[in-house]
This record gives sequence, structure tokens and C-alpha cells, in this order.
Amino acid sequence: MPHSGRSAASRDWWRKADIYEVYVRSFADGNGDGIGDLAGVRARLPYLAELGVDAIWFAPWYPSPMADAGYDVADYRAIEPLFGSLDEAEQLIAEAHRLGIRIIIDIVPNHGSDQQQWFADALAAQAGSAERARYHFRPGQGAEGSVPPNNWTSEFGGTAWSRVSSAGRAQPAPEAPRGPGAPEAAGEPAEWYLHLFSPGQPDFNWAHPDVRAEFADVLRFWFDRGVDGFRIDSAALLAKDPSLADLDPGQAGGEHPYIDRDGVHGIYREWRRIADSYPGERVLIGEVWLPDAERLTRYLRPDELHSAFNFDFLCCAWDAARLREVIDVTLDSHARVGAPATWVLSNHDVVRHVTRYGRADTAFSMSDRRIGEPSDRELGTRRARAAALLTFSLPGAVYLYQGDELGLWEVEDIPDELLQDPFWERSGHTDRGRDGCRVPLPWSGKQPPFGFGPEGSVPWLPQPTQWKDLTAEAESGSDGSMLELYRAALRLRRAEQALTSADIRWLASPAGVLSYRRGDDITVMINLSAHPVGLPPHDKVLIGSAPLQGGVLPPDCATWLRTRQCTSGDEGFDRAAQGSQG
Ligand code: NOJ
Ligand code: CA
Repeated sequence: MPHSGRSAASRDWWRKADIYEVYVRSFADGNGDGIGDLAGVRARLPYLAELGVDAIWFAPWYPSPMADAGYDVADYRAIEPLFGSLDEAEQLIAEAHRLGIRIIIDIVPNHGSDQQQWFADALAAQAGSAERARYHFRPGQGAEGSVPPNNWTSEFGGTAWSRVSSAGRAQPAPEAPRGPGAPEAAGEPAEWYLHLFSPGQPDFNWAHPDVRAEFADVLRFWFDRGVDGFRIDSAALLAKDPSLADLDPGQAGGEHPYIDRDGVHGIYREWRRIADSYPGERVLIGEVWLPDAERLTRYLRPDELHSAFNFDFLCCAWDAARLREVIDVTLDSHARVGAPATWVLSNHDVVRHVTRYGRADTAFSMSDRRIGEPSDRELGTRRARAAALLTFSLPGAVYLYQGDELGLWEVEDIPDELLQDPFWERSGHTDRGRDGCRVPLPWSGKQPPFGFGPEGSVPWLPQPTQWKDLTAEAESGSDGSMLELYRAALRLRRAEQALTSADIRWLASPAGVLSYRRGDDITVMINLSAHPVGLPPHDKVLIGSAPLQGGVLPPDCATWLRTRQCTSGDEGFDRAAQGSQG
């Protein structure tokens, strides 16, 4: 049933929203070319309304040469033709709004595409020109200028610099030969430009007023078209040390030359003023990967971003003590700035959590995806079900990634020649990258394309044949399916007063068990130990991640109980008293 997410009663909606990430290319293919598109999304909006999400976050839908699956934006005011048109996007926004679903879109401000007009102008202009000043162009080191300007490395591997070649094209290091027609003045060695990601993603110079003005205008362009917010890509990287000094790996203290520099906050204060100038609580959500919770929550001060993803939670091992610590640190640090906590298990950059939780080492690190490491799928799925009940029972906002609700796993055997993620090439074929979590969704039927596109169409990445049991159709109405668990839990999360409150109190529990009380009448238990544990006295089982037989909670299972009487062993730890959440 659609809900009234956009009603007047939904002030502060983003503080407890359930936000579903759509990775357009892999969601649903309306025209049968094998690539997901806006027509596909529009046709599936009722599915998302029924799932019960408050908002959709779209990974980049802009025109892009796809050097990094759309995170290389060639035009910030249009739609990738493979996905549809601006007109369709506007229709989609209106249709979603009618179903009570808000629309959040990705914005990629750290870098553009090398196919963007500004960059073409920069390549065609000379060293020191106004056109190049919008990016970070620098001469190389050494007599011929053939050594990159500094030692920074690209997230995808190799140097973070590419050299301008004669043909007005950028080339990766080592230096491409220069020939006639080079834009540099005669005798001047060709310059290099900075790209913290792939060479197709030149970094903008955020000290340049044109860059600031351009993005302010892009925000307005989409706010004017009704979008409810932006997910800000690589949000902590925009400000660079103007000297572009070498990175000193041994450096203790002091500012990093490009991560989380204090200068970045002024940008978001300006963006917040723009968001606040629109009616209806438009939001800014930061993709901020930082090891320090205090540094992270600086982005969430009242005049900056509304919210940020909780990557500590995503990366945390399936371990009660460690999860409890992450939950505590998250709630404390966010309460201090009055921002809502967020809970994330997966997204388009990480190994799907069914696979992570089935491994011997259940923690995750972006720098080591461990694709192909043995994983017990049944165990991973059981834990993923319990993790869903953990996530949906915590105070704050929740982010779901498409396919989480179907229990999809990481596809680890994509043939080498089909891999598209730049990690694969840039790592010299040592890192298989992120394609395994981007495989097109299975919707219906018994064989590929599983309703992703029309019968006979070939999805851009192959789907495992075993996904016949994980289609939305197969799982709909099927007792014990991941989809029905998600639907039921999201319904309760919205309907139960205790779960919409900010009140959470830890309860005493056996080792390896997380137990807390939410509001006046719900007790949550998650058993991460190897042994069954007894349930406390309760009026009713509201939901369980597995059947609870004989009043015990099996290992790797979770439950929400109606417990009207105060449970004994209450540690009396009342979060509501500490912060202004909810
Ligand atoms: C984070 C995005 O989520 C990821 O997919 C992308 O490769 C980088 N930022 C660069 O834009
Ligand atoms: Ca298509």
C-alpha cells in the first residue's frame, strides 16, 4: 500500500526515511537493449511503493561515456540517452510523488567527465589558461616533464595524473608522445591533469568561482524539477591542498592534501542555503568515507548536510560486540550535532552482504573486496535476514540497495571479458571490481533475463540461473522469502510508534546477543552467538527472521517482540535523553 510520505505530517521525513538505491543500468530494462532505463523504473514504481520505501536514490542518470558507470558526468542537466530523456525523468518524478515516494539524485561534484565541454575547452587551451584553471593542470616533474606532478594515486590504481597529448586527448601515464598541434606553447612540455578516480574523471578545482557557480546552478536546475535531494558523491574530496604537495604516508596530524580538508565545509554551507530556499525539506546526503566519527559528523552540523551514509556499520563484522560499539558511537556522535543516524548494509560499490556475511571474515574493506573468497550462502542469507531486522529496528534513516530485498548475492564468476568496472583494468586484473553487485535484477520467470527486459533480451551482465528462486515474482507472497520479510519489517517500522521514536535502551543479554528496548513496548533481540538463546517474557512475536520454536532464538536470527512490561536487566541507558533525534 502506498503511504503518504509527502504529506504535511512528514516534516523531518529524512530523519527516519527508508531510502532505496536504484542503480538504473541494472534495475529494469524497458526497451530491451539489455540496459536498465527510466521506462523500466517507471513501470516498477508500484513495486517500490508496495515495498514501503520513502524515497529512491538514483545513482547518476546523466549523459556519460561510462568510464566509471555514470560517475563520469558529461552533462549535469540532462539524462543519459540510454536511460531516457529529461522529459521522462520529469514524468518519473511526478509519478513517484503521486505514490508518496521522494526522489533523490546523485550529484558528482569532485570530478566531471573528460568528454564534458569544459574539459574539451581546457584541453584545447594552453597551459595557464582560464579554461585549464577549472581543473588541476600542472607541469610534470623532470627535465621533460614526464614524471607526474606528485605522488597521489588514483582510487582505481596507478597514478592520479594523466598527461595531455598532442591530439587534445588525455593519456594515462607514462607520457604519450606529443606531436604537431599540441595546445601548449611551442617548446613547452605537455601538462598533466589530476583525476583521483579514472583518467575519464578529471577533478574540478573547487577554489575556482566558475566551479562553485556551476554546481549551485545544477542544484537549482534539479530542485526546480522537483527532486527532493541529492546524494553527494565523494563528498569529502573536493577541497585540495593548493600546493598539491606529495602525500606523506607517514604524516601524523595536519591536513591530508585532499581528504576531509576543512575548506570543504564552506561548499556545503552554501549548498544547504540553496536546499533550504526550496519548499518541502530538500535534503543533502553525503558520501563521506572517514575513519573518525567526529570528523564525519562535522558534515552534519545544522547548516551543512542533512545526513550521511554509515559506512562503519556497513563494514563492521557480524559480531555482537563490534556492532554494538558501532551503534553506540554512531548514535552518540550524531546526537551531538542533532543529525539522524543512518544504517546501510550494501550499495553499488561493495560486496553484497549475503556474500560478506557467509565468509569466515565477515568484515568489509573497500581496499580488499576478496572476490571469490569462500562464502556459505545459506549462512550469509540467514545473517542477512537477521541484519535486516537489526537495521530496521534502529533509530534513524535506512538505506537499501536494490536486490537487498530479494536476498541477492555477489556474482563472483562474471567472465573476465565482460567485466566493466575500471578497477579491473586499472588494477592490472588483480581486483575484479564492483560488477558483481551490479548484475541486473531478476523480476520474474524461470530463466534469464528474468523479466529484467523483454523475453530474448540480453542483460548487460549475465544473471546466475539460480536467481530463478530469487525473482520478485517467486518471492512475492512466499512465506519465508526475503522480500516478504522486508515488506513486513518495513511496514512495522512505519506503524509501530516505538520504532519511529529515538528511544533505545540496551538490555542485559548473553555474550554474542544484542538486545535492546525500543520505546515503551518493543524488545529487539539479535543472536550472533553460536547457541540458541531463550526469549524474554513477551506478549507477542511481531516478526522473526526465522521460525522461533520452543521460545528460543536460534543462532544468526533476530526478532522483534511486543513486551509491554518493563524487561528486567534494563541497563537504563536512554538515548532519547541524549540527543535531538527523531
Ligand atoms: C563513489 C561512487 O559510489 C563510486 O561508484 C564511484 O566510482 C566513485 N565515487 C567516484 O565517483
Ligand atoms: Ca534499456
